[in-house]
Amino acid sequence: MNIAVTSATGRRGRPVVRSLLERGYTDLVLLARSDATLEPALWRGARVVTGDLLDVRYVCHATEGIDVLIWITPLPRSSPSPLEDFGRLGDSAAGAIVANGIRRVVNLSTLGVHLSAPCGVVEGFRRVEGILDGTPAEITHLRPGYLMENYEDVLEGIRHDGAILLPVSPEAIVPMIAAADAADLAAAIATDWEQEGRQRRVFELHGPNDISFGDAALLLSGQLGRDIPHVRIPPEEARERLAAHGFSEAFAALVVEWYAAIDSGLWRPDQPRSPATETQTPFERYVRYELAPRIRATQPIGPR
Ligand SMILES: NC(=O)c1ccc[n+]([C@@H]2O[C@H](COP(=O)([O-])OP(=O)(O)OC[C@H]3O[C@@H](n4cnc5c(N)ncnc54)[C@H](OP(=O)(O)O)[C@@H]3O)[C@@H](O)[C@H]2O)c1
Repeated sequence: MNIAVTSATGRRGRPVVRSLLERGYTDLVLLARSDATLEPALWRGARVVTGDLLDVRYVCHATEGIDVLIWITPLPRSSPSPLEDFGRLGDSAAGAIVANGIRRVVNLSTLGVHLSAPCGVVEGFRRVEGILDGTPAEITHLRPGYLMENYEDVLEGIRHDGAILLPVSPEAIVPMIAAADAADLAAAIATDWEQEGRQRRVFELHGPNDISFGDAALLLSGQLGRDIPHVRIPPEEARERLAAHGFSEAFAALVVEWYAAIDSGLWRPDQPRSPATETQTPFERYVRYELAPRIRATQPIGPR
């Protein structure tokens, strides 16, 4: 079975590739802008086809002969019109699915797509889901909650200011999930042909528990042996910080709107928490083995 994975070098794509390889699937086509970090997969037989996912011709060419597409939409962070670009990315996927007769698609989406109220960046994923639903493929949308890996975006604030700076209150609570757990499920569904036949499925993924941003900060503080508070910053400051990291004004606004939806409780699951929606990795484990070591490995933590 030939499986293609997009955004293969990203925080969501890398664990998908790892999980497929661990399951013994080496007939992989990895779509990425460069093969620089993909050597381990290449050694095991995977093929990298480099290009831009906004280019439908590239996506069609790269996915020729593919049975299963694991579609991970990259975030159009620097785009002046990100929602349009989400649509273009969805069109690339749909174009390739139709042109190459791809029968099965696993789309790594996000929680909140069911909501009709504005939820920032979630609107982009909603557009992609809608476009994919218009293809004849059998589609599974995975909608993970708040990815623990989002904390990698605030590492600099932690090092520099000694605090987690986000435009959301420490009391706000989210279902937190490790990207590796969502990736495992994506790989399992992609390789499980017994499930064939259903046209469209949606799985929300809630991680092992809901957790507040304040409690998340306490867990990190405990691991680092110093107080790293969660500080709610105003939306304007959040937008400035994102702009300093190359985010377009329009994309930064979508991120801030998403955090406002988290803050107000609007961004919430559609499906009740159950064994079917739960995944294993607790936030404590992510902090202990991934986040805290990354923070310790770099420069000392600054004032607060
Ligand atoms: N529910 C949630 O909490 C949620 C949902 C979705 C995403 N996120 C967060 O979003 C952040 C980003 O995740 P990520 O690293 O997987 O995604 P990403 O930064 O958007 O990038 C994914 C990968 O796609 C590649 N890429 C970007 N634009 C491309 C294009 N036009 N054509 C081809 N390849 C392209 C990048 O390659 P290069 O190596 O060339 O840059 C990158 O490695 C993470 O913090 C994640 O947790 C959170």
